[in-house]
Amino acid sequence: MTNVHVTQPEAPKITVIGTGYLGATHAVCMSLLGCEVLGVDVDERKIELLSAGTVPFYEPGLTDKLHEALASGRLHFTTDFDEAAQFGDTHFVCVGTPQAKDSAAADLTYVDAAFAALASRITKKALLVGKSTVPIGTATRLTHLVHALSPLGAELELAWNPEFLREGFAVDDTLHPDRLVFGVASEWALAQLSSVFAPILKNGTPVIVADLATAELVKVAANSFLATKISFINAMAEVCEATGADVDLLAQALSFDKRIGGRFLKPGLGFGGGCLPKDIRAFKYRAEELGVGAAVRFLGEVDAINNRRRVRTVDLIRELAGGNLAGVRVAALGAAFKPNSDDVRDAPALDVARMLYLEGALVTVYDPQANTNAHRLYPDLNYATTLPAALDNADVVALLTEWDEFRSADPDEMATFVCHRRIVDGRHALNADEYRRKGWDYRALGQPTPAAAPAHLNRGSESTQ
Ligand SMILES: NC(=O)c1ccc[n+]([C@@H]2O[C@H](COP(=O)([O-])OP(=O)(O)OC[C@H]3O[C@@H](n4cnc5c(N)ncnc54)[C@H](O)[C@@H]3O)[C@@H](O)[C@H]2O)c1
Repeated sequence: MTNVHVTQPEAPKITVIGTGYLGATHAVCMSLLGCEVLGVDVDERKIELLSAGTVPFYEPGLTDKLHEALASGRLHFTTDFDEAAQFGDTHFVCVGTPQAKDSAAADLTYVDAAFAALASRITKKALLVGKSTVPIGTATRLTHLVHALSPLGAELELAWNPEFLREGFAVDDTLHPDRLVFGVASEWALAQLSSVFAPILKNGTPVIVADLATAELVKVAANSFLATKISFINAMAEVCEATGADVDLLAQALSFDKRIGGRFLKPGLGFGGGCLPKDIRAFKYRAEELGVGAAVRFLGEVDAINNRRRVRTVDLIRELAGGNLAGVRVAALGAAFKPNSDDVRDAPALDVARMLYLEGALVTVYDPQANTNAHRLYPDLNYATTLPAALDNADVVALLTEWDEFRSADPDEMATFVCHRRIVDGRHALNADEYRRKGWDYRALGQPTPAAAPAHLNRGSESTQ
């Protein structure tokens, strides 16, 4: 950890290139922290919405913060890269790095395009800062690209500042991060970043000053660790299923070990979203390119365990339906990859719904926020706009995303809508005892069926996270 100089003499002028989940949040929060911010995107609709005070996606608290930031006069949006190049002294690139269509590698098209668009236009000394999650070595490659394209040559510097925000908590994570990582190649770059983040640094937030490669690696290493922890407990769930052991009791017992801890040790349907799955795949791919594939070969297993949970959830729903899904009405509760988000990228919930549909089940999906995005991806599924409508006449209920609305639903009231009281708790989010007491056939991955489990065991919904 490094002590950095934290003065912010006048409002730093920054641009944020790419105003999706990460960029829009960053633009709003940095303007609230005192920067003059210009948000830039190639998507005109997004820019129109943000300029008018509408967040184009669901993120708790962000709409209010956007209004506050717009009212401060320090936040504007544009699609014009010439304007951006003139405006900013520090440019944050927050564009997407999805998985490539034809391999496990990261698709760096958008990152390359954003850096090239800036580099060819900027005519005053400035810092280009990558925030997108990228394979190790990208920043060095981009440095050469930027120097080749820029009228300023090597005057135009590059830094990497990986982002760790969690959807659902994005505003708080941005304003109060656990740590900041500054990947820099010069004292000047460090001073620029320290000035931009001065209000956060003044709060005593730890800052790691690193080389570019380490900064890139921190992000993929963190995501790999979290994915591994989730898949570890899900691997244990597989063992439990073969032995009659109970994964929730196991997770609880492990969580009291201070060396292990309970966070991310929650069994269930596994991880998804626009980050963890594609980041571990891209990391493994990049490690193989670098000749160190053996070091992270285990990430292939982490990915495979995670995908098996989706298939096994379908198995459990089929079992509960009597062995055949054809014509079975399934209420699929949740579509987003996690609660408090409308993000359906690589969402386990939707993957399960799709597999059920392919086996002939009549699937009705309900998500408090993600129906629109889910419908865009899978228009063939049925969508309900309320929980009762989703439950209506269901043969099996599948809890796939643990929204509070589902956690707090009354099993008695739910029973009035369904055809059969059968529920698969894909997230281990419900109180199993309560559901069983109220006449439901309750199942969860890695939990023995009631007949196999000693009656005195309490398998409630206590979270280990
Ligand atoms: N979403 C998260 O929780 C999160 C957290 C940490 C890191 N990240 C990383 O941040 C990056 C962005 O993720 P996201 O979830 O915000 O993606 P996103 O798809 O929501 O947003 C990307 C935005 O970039 C825009 N864009 C694409 N090309 C552009 C260009 N050349 N110029 C300007 N804008 C362009 C797109 O129109 C889109 O609005 C990824 O690398 C991701 O891995 C995301």
